[in-house]
Amino acid sequence: MWNNGWSKADAMPKRLALLRRALYTRSGNMSAAVKDKLQFILGRRSIRVYAPGEVDEAAVTQLLQAAMAAPSAVAKDPWRFVVIRKPETLSAIAAALPNGGMLAVAPLGIVVCGDLEAAHDRQLSYLLQDCSAAIENLLLCAHALGLGACWLGVHPREDRVRKLQEILSLPVSVIPVAGIAIGRPGEAKEPRTRYNPHYVHWEKWSTENEDGR
Ligand SMILES: Cc1cc2nc3c(=O)[nH]c(=O)nc-3n(C[C@H](O)[C@H](O)[C@H](O)COP(=O)(O)O)c2cc1C
Repeated sequence: MWNNGWSKADAMPKRLALLRRALYTRSGNMSAAVKDKLQFILGRRSIRVYAPGEVDEAAVTQLLQAAMAAPSAVAKDPWRFVVIRKPETLSAIAAALPNGGMLAVAPLGIVVCGDLEAAHDRQLSYLLQDCSAAIENLLLCAHALGLGACWLGVHPREDRVRKLQEILSLPVSVIPVAGIAIGRPGEAKEPRTRYNPHYVHWEKWSTENEDGR
């Protein structure tokens, strides 16, 4: 016997059944609580217009805690964060990012960087994957707090990387991955997914039928 009176062999099907029961009501419909959680994920949208108002320190702490709860290869946590409120710094970064003009009018910016010295095997790919996971967590947290946020691409554009390294006085091993503009939402967007069955392959790569099932 393993635990809870289950043998090892039948523990997994029972666990799956329990999980399924937690996810779905008896009628086979998804529970309202699960629907709400999925809708929350779909409700995270890029918000590029901000209403007047600050983002308080407690919210900044929550954003950073969520970011640093992300998965990271070998838990190396190579992510580093530069929190920016000074309008002149926000404007300088906005000027360096061709699609980041909204940062100049946002009350808060967070530049997510990765320290190559800290990344697993000092690999840029691990650094980027870890930082991207942190960014998505941060964006979801902003959404949970009722804030609006937008990912602003920096890496791999060399000119943007160089300009941000200068503006923020980053050490040589620290690579800016993305800026995030954050503020109170000044626009509303519908939850949505961009689900496309053609992008999904079942068991192995196949182009034979639409969803392969
Ligand atoms: C790597 C990356 C770079 C991005 N760079 C920018 C950017 O520079 N400016 C911008 O307005 N949005 C940027 N975005 C946001 C995308 O445009 C946005 O996520 C996409 O259009 C889907 O919309 P949604 O976030 O509302 O679902 C970036 C997103 C990613 C993942």
